[in-house]
Formats: sequence, structure tokens, C-alpha cells
Amino acid sequence: MSRKYLTQAWCVLLVTGISLSCMAQKTIPSYHQEIESLMSKMSVEDKIGQLIQENGDQGHDGSIKAGQVGSVLNVVNPQAIHRMQQLAVDSSELGIPLIFARDVIHGFKTIFPIPLGMAASFNPDLVQQSAAIAAEEAASVGVRWTFSPMVDVSRDPRWGRVAETFGEDPYLHARMGTAMVRGYQGEKLSDKTSIAACAKHFAAYGAAIGGRDYNTVELPENVLRDVYLPPFKACVDAGIASFMPSFNEINGVPSSGSAFLLDQVLQKEWGFNGVVVSDWESVIQLQTHGFTDSEKESAYQSFMAGTHMEMNSKAYANKLRELINEGRISMEKLDDAVRRILRMKFELGLFDDPYTHTADFPPMLNDHNKALAKAVATESIVLLKNEKNILPLTGFKGKIAVVGPLADSPHDQLGTWIFDGDKADAITPLTSLRDLFGSKNVNYAAGMAFSRSLDKDLFPEAIEAAKNSDVILVFIGEESILSGESHCRADLGLPGIQEEFIRQLAETGKPMVAVVMAGRPLTFESVFDTFDAVLYTWHLGTMAGPAIADIVSGKVSPSGKLPITFPRHVGQVPIYYSYKNSGKPASDATWERLYEIPPEAPQLSIGNTNHYLDYGFEPWFPFGFGLSYSTFEYSDINIQDPEVSMGDSIVISAHLKNTGSVKATEVVQLYVRDLVGSRTRPVRELKGFQRITLEAGERKKVVFRIHTSELGFHNLDMEYVTEPGAFKAWIGGSSGADLGIDFSVN
Ligand code: BGC
Repeated sequence: MSRKYLTQAWCVLLVTGISLSCMAQKTIPSYHQEIESLMSKMSVEDKIGQLIQENGDQGHDGSIKAGQVGSVLNVVNPQAIHRMQQLAVDSSELGIPLIFARDVIHGFKTIFPIPLGMAASFNPDLVQQSAAIAAEEAASVGVRWTFSPMVDVSRDPRWGRVAETFGEDPYLHARMGTAMVRGYQGEKLSDKTSIAACAKHFAAYGAAIGGRDYNTVELPENVLRDVYLPPFKACVDAGIASFMPSFNEINGVPSSGSAFLLDQVLQKEWGFNGVVVSDWESVIQLQTHGFTDSEKESAYQSFMAGTHMEMNSKAYANKLRELINEGRISMEKLDDAVRRILRMKFELGLFDDPYTHTADFPPMLNDHNKALAKAVATESIVLLKNEKNILPLTGFKGKIAVVGPLADSPHDQLGTWIFDGDKADAITPLTSLRDLFGSKNVNYAAGMAFSRSLDKDLFPEAIEAAKNSDVILVFIGEESILSGESHCRADLGLPGIQEEFIRQLAETGKPMVAVVMAGRPLTFESVFDTFDAVLYTWHLGTMAGPAIADIVSGKVSPSGKLPITFPRHVGQVPIYYSYKNSGKPASDATWERLYEIPPEAPQLSIGNTNHYLDYGFEPWFPFGFGLSYSTFEYSDINIQDPEVSMGDSIVISAHLKNTGSVKATEVVQLYVRDLVGSRTRPVRELKGFQRITLEAGERKKVVFRIHTSELGFHNLDMEYVTEPGAFKAWIGGSSGADLGIDFSVN
């Protein structure tokens, strides 16, 4: 069939197809007729070709012309994309367009905070807008598919990819992940500014033993279903176009070959009708795992489990034909995979117009995009400490020492996974602080060339700058390369000789504010007392400088909250707010302090509780924590009906008052505990949050409505149930909130 004929046929049928494409998944699959008509023209080789994803723009021309490529990743040059697309559309027999994919993780050219930072904003609306901007910028060069959002719950800051997550909580992950899906995919995929999203890495990638990337995961099914899967399910419900299995094995089965995950849960239970693309060579890695003994068996296991497209490696290209000939893989199974991929291409409008008209798009990094990036960055900043209200430096007239390895490090502030971001576009804190306070009032000296430096040669210059100033802003933390894929750390402390640098600065006796940039929670309790204030700023992206300047100057009051628990010491990991009580819960009264135990104390088994002798039982900072330049008071917690009927909604409220002297925003959080369960339940689970902005002195009632079905869990029979009985809810400004109320579900 000639390409011209196909184009005409699609144009006619597209009229119906467009409206169908707007519909949510689980309705009648869209483009049915167009797909079937095309499929009837495809040979087995053509079909297998659609399952192949190649990398880069070199060396694939022949296979594209032969119809042996369905997708290409990592090409972002619009001319190269156009050239390859032209080969597919004009020179292949069937003219099926390619889909170009890229890891657009927290922005394309305009870089937003790392996802862990964005999670701290607790602002899904802004996160959605950031994804829409990322989509528009990526689509403007021809990229129509991103491998994002990553919705891997992780409770291990050692894991480098924690930077790419939304932290430790399933509910926060679901809210942020679905916001990104909506942002990327827009109103409908066929809009030129929309790109297909991909939920990754399915599943439990963040639960790698020891926080070491790609490592084994051992997880009971109920924990998998209660903690790690819900954000993925939420993405399916939000209409996500694709999924990516994780590199890790779970309980002995690598995800790319897991029929349980990909077939049972994703397809059968959740009714996902989109595309599953493998992770980078994860199909052939089934053999490395020791799950298969050959490339052929890897292709078989992965395809049969439900991985439709293979990224980069060649097991499908090399072996699927043979497996089909042998009858081990049915045509029905092959057709199902091909249909999904074609449907995604139809829904993206690629058959309608496979080319990108870059000139039709607004320029990248435009003022709107940068303003949004600044807004997200500002809301992502968490104030951990502010003694004697040293911050903000509103109207500050003295001299400011700006020191530290990250004050002027445009590359590092962008964070991990910024393939297309450019440090030349990044505005650093030094630049913004000079703009704000005047260059003559800023004494800058890095003091350390980079965060891991072991060289003290630059110390004296920074100490001198500090001595000549009235306040020190010290920019410490981690370079971007210390987090991200396979960049895990066993030590969560400040790298290099930063602690020594801080101590020497402290000796000047000047007030000192730490601005910490990092891809994970860091532990620096031993120098914490040297700071009067601490701002935790993650890697904030292109607009880190202006955002930090707005917070430092008090133009905006900090409103970020920690999306992950901060341990005091790495040995406490995993430590998270929604732990189980145990039969011997620790308290301050029962904590036996290491150095208080007398020598040769006899062992007792009475009165013991579950703490560490040296680090107790509490984290450094709890999940949900974050200060403001104002103060907030919570009161009058109330429940509409303390005896809720199963199937009804629960309406819980509290009053929030801004008791400080400046306008500020508070993230009001709702936590619930199911007090008794046929399986024990966590001591608290986040069930809602709202960002509330109040003028000084203003008071507002904040109302949450949740359904009893949101209080369920997987019981011993692996059924999702909400059990009747006693519950408790808390409303407050962190997971440590103490304003609670009892209720029951009957
Ligand atoms: C990562 C994925 C990413 C893929 C393609 C893999 O190494 O695990 O998250 O999407 O590479 O770049």
C-alpha cells in the first residue's frame, strides 16, 4: 500500500478518531478502524519493527527505511528528527511515523527543581504547569514522548535516584505524578504541545536493598500494593500513555519479565491499554539477572510478561520472529503490542502530521517559562531553622558574605537528569544576590572549588570575606553529579571538607545562614548549631538564584515542606513517618542513652523499646516539616460526624491562624491512623494537603473531605478493604502534628 493512499484514508477516519482520543482509557480504544486497516497491511516483520526503539540519529537509516524501527530516543535536533521522520514516512513501505522520545524529567530547556524539590512545594498545580512547559519545549523540537513522571516511592536517601522521586509518600507521589501526567499530555495528546508521559519505574525501584541502585528488592505483596503501587495506579487513572518496568527484581523476578506486574496488575487489574517500553536494555538484562539463559529467552519472557517495546537492545529484533515461527508467541499477542504502539502514534496526531513546525511554538526559556520555573523553585525551598529571625534580610544595609562551593555553580543548581538544560541559562544565587543587594555590598569568595574538594587553599579568601561582612550566606551541599542514576552514597554527610570550612567561618562570630543545595536529605547535625538559619533548597534549576534571593530578602516567605524524612544519621535509614508502632514503641522516657548505661550493666528484657542507643528513635526533621517567616496556630479540629458510615465521606476541619507579622503560606496536612487492623496499620498516613495563604493575623477554616475507601489497605487475603473500627485524624503543619480527633467507621 502506498503512503499516499494511507494518508488519505487516515485523514477521512481521523475525524472520528480525534474525538475518541480525548476519551479516558478503558473506553473503547480509539482509532480502532485506522489501526485495523493498517495492521491488515503489515507483515510480521513490519509489526516487529514497531516494537523496536533505537538510540540516537546515527546508523539507523537503513532499518528505518525497511520499517524496522518504531521509535527513536535521544535525538533532539529538529533537523535530525525531521530527516529521520521523512525516511520513515516517505521511504518506508507503509510510511508509519516514528515517535521520538527523550528523558524530559524536570524541564527541557527551562529547568525546574529536581522532582524531590518540586515535591516540597506540595503544589500539584504548579507542578502540572511545569510539565506543560516542559512538554511544549520538547515538542517544539519534535520530541513527543518523555520517560516521566518517575513515581518511585523511596525511603532511602542513599539511593541516588531519590532526587528524581517525589519522596517517601505514596499519596504525595500520586498527587504530583498525576499532575505531571496532566501537564505533559494536556487536554489531548493530539495537541501539538502535548507529549506522551511514561510512569516509571514499575515497580518498587526505590526499595533497592541498601539504597544501591539496581539492587534486589524484597517486598511483601501487601507493602508493594499499599505503598509502592498506588502512584502508578493513579497515573493509569489519569490516562497516562505509557509505562516503563524497573531494572530491579522483586522477590526474585526482574520487572521487565514480571507477568505479575505487567500482565496481572497493570493490564488485567488496572485495565491499562497503553504502551509498556522496557528500560534501557532491561530486556537482555534478564539474562544478567540469572532469570533467563539466552537473548531469545529474555525476549520471550519480557514480551510474554507484557513489555511491548524494547529500548536499545536487540532481543526483539533478533528473536521475536523465531519465537513466533515456533508458535511460542502468538500473532494475537504480537498484534496486541503493535496496536498499542500504533494507537499512541495516532493519538499523538503523528499520522495526521508527522512533522514538527518549530516556528509555530513560542521560544524556549521565554519569560513565562522562567517566571513559572522561579515560582516552583521559590515554593520548593524549605526553611529548617531561623533563630532570632535572622532571615529575612529585608532592607539589609550591611555587607553580605556570599561563600561556599555552590553559590555560583550554574551547572550544579540544575540537578540530575538535565540532558537539554544549559548552564549558560542558569541564574546563580551570587548573580541574583548581587542584583538585589548591590555588587558592592556582596563579598564573594567560593572558599572551595566544588563540594567534594579536599583543598583548603581557598579557605582564607572566604574567611576574609566573612570577616569583612555583617552576615554570611554559605552555599553548601552536593554537586548535581552526586545524585541521580547509579550515583548512590553510603554516607549522607556534607562531602569534602565542607564541615571544616563551616567551622572556620563560624569562628568569625558573624551570623551565618546556610543555603543547602542537594539531591537528597543530607546529615550535617554536627555543624547545625553554627548556623542561625538554614534553607534547604535541593537543586532548584534555571531560576535557583532569583528564587533564593526572593526568600532571603523576604519578598516571599518560605512555604516548602519536606517530602522525605531527614535522618540524623545514615544508620537510621530507612526511617519514615508512616512506620508501624511495633509492640514496644520507643519514647523519650524509654530511650536508653548510649553513654548513660553503666559499664557491665546487666541485660534486662523488661522495659526495652525499639530505639537506637546512640540515635534514639526520632528523625532529625520529620516528613512534612518546614518553617515560615510567620507562625501558624492550629485549633478547633472538628469532624462533621464522628461515626462515619462505610461508603460515606469524612469531613474534617481545623482553623488555621497566621499568628506572625507577615503574609505567608502554610501547607496544611491531614493524617489518619486506622487504630486496629487485621494487618497492623502505620502510625500515620497522609490523606490530604492544602496550601493556604493568609495575611498576618488572618484566620481560616480548612476543610478536608475524604472517602472511607481512601482508608483501606490490603488484608491477609490481598483484598483492598477499609475495615470498620476506630480511627484518628490529625491536622497540622507536619507529620508530627498533635492536633487530633477520634472517629469511627461503621
Ligand atoms: C533509566 C530510565 C531512562 C532510560 C532512558 C535508564 O537508564 O533508568 O529512567 O528513562 O535510561 O534514558
